[in-house]
Amino acid sequence: MNVGIRALGAYTPSKIMTNEDFESFLETSDEWIISRTGIKERHIAAEDEYTSTLAFRAVEDLIKRHGQQALEDVDLVIVATNTPDALFPATAALVQNRFGLNAGAYDLLSGCPGWVYAVSQAYASIQAGVANKVLVIGSEALTKIMDWNDRSTAVLFGDGAGAAVIGPVKDGYGFRSFVLGADGSGAKELAMRCTAPNLPDGTPLPQNAFMNGREVFKFAVRVMNTATLEAVDKAGLTPEDIELFVPHQANLRIIDAARERLGLPWERVMVNVDRYGNTSTASIPLALQEALDLGRIQPGDHLLFVTFGAGLSWAASVLTWGS
Ligand code: COA
Repeated sequence: MNVGIRALGAYTPSKIMTNEDFESFLETSDEWIISRTGIKERHIAAEDEYTSTLAFRAVEDLIKRHGQQALEDVDLVIVATNTPDALFPATAALVQNRFGLNAGAYDLLSGCPGWVYAVSQAYASIQAGVANKVLVIGSEALTKIMDWNDRSTAVLFGDGAGAAVIGPVKDGYGFRSFVLGADGSGAKELAMRCTAPNLPDGTPLPQNAFMNGREVFKFAVRVMNTATLEAVDKAGLTPEDIELFVPHQANLRIIDAARERLGLPWERVMVNVDRYGNTSTASIPLALQEALDLGRIQPGDHLLFVTFGAGLSWAASVLTWGS
């Protein structure tokens, strides 16, 4: 069976925060942030907007674009997020209820790669006959867990959500490969406390999102290179076959390093980190929706996704676009 993306939708909160806005309360500058990350602005959830709210809006956008029938036969909902509304219930159950779906529901928490991880779970569930169609959402209200006095993390992240219906697609279309990886020896480089005060090795867990930028940068460049080539190879393709590379939007320099390694021109790379910052699990579906809106994807195009983040973890996938 061929399994791919049948419908997509996205949402970002209306409030925008520019680099200049940070200059008023942090020792930073527009120039520093742009030169180190490529980020110019990011969207910020309103006080009463949460990960569930953003997920609802992304699904509403999906319905607006593809009609209510896009959700027909959806019997599983997975919300990939690092900022669930609550530890329990799952944010996915709130989505199930909101849209009256006759579906199982769970959250998947695995750093920024969560959405690609969840898509791989959806793919496998459908192939195994466990589910017919799966609603896979990446949704984040990251700005609610930031330490706004920490200039090395606060300026990097933004809020948003993307939603996709994964299901059977016609011959010639669909996912061709998945690569999932993790290296928990780097757990302390990107971490935030929940119920335990320490990691198993005794490293204290911080109260807010903490990141060792330099270490994560090196890790990201390394795994973006290996995971992309592995996913392309597993798909039976070469990098030249990739019509559009849609990488995790964390840092323009990291994207550039991966692009160079793949030997792809910028015309074949989707970039919107400048306007959204790092929206973690929402990053790839947001970029994918924008690429579609810009007319940059045609049926039959080979798309390459790659993402990295807390865990440390990574994921890559090749999809032949079309349904
Ligand atoms: N404004 C101004 N200066 C800042 C700053 C900011 N917003 N944030 C950090 N700095 C300072 C640091 O404190 C450091 O100062 P010091 O040398 O006096 O200690 C200096 O800038 C240089 O820090 P460095 O870490 O060498 O900068 P960098 O070029 O590595 O860029 C990051 C920092 C965070 C942008 C970069 O490491 C990065 O993008 N890492 C990966 C992050 C990522 O992708 N995370 C996503 C995980 S899903």
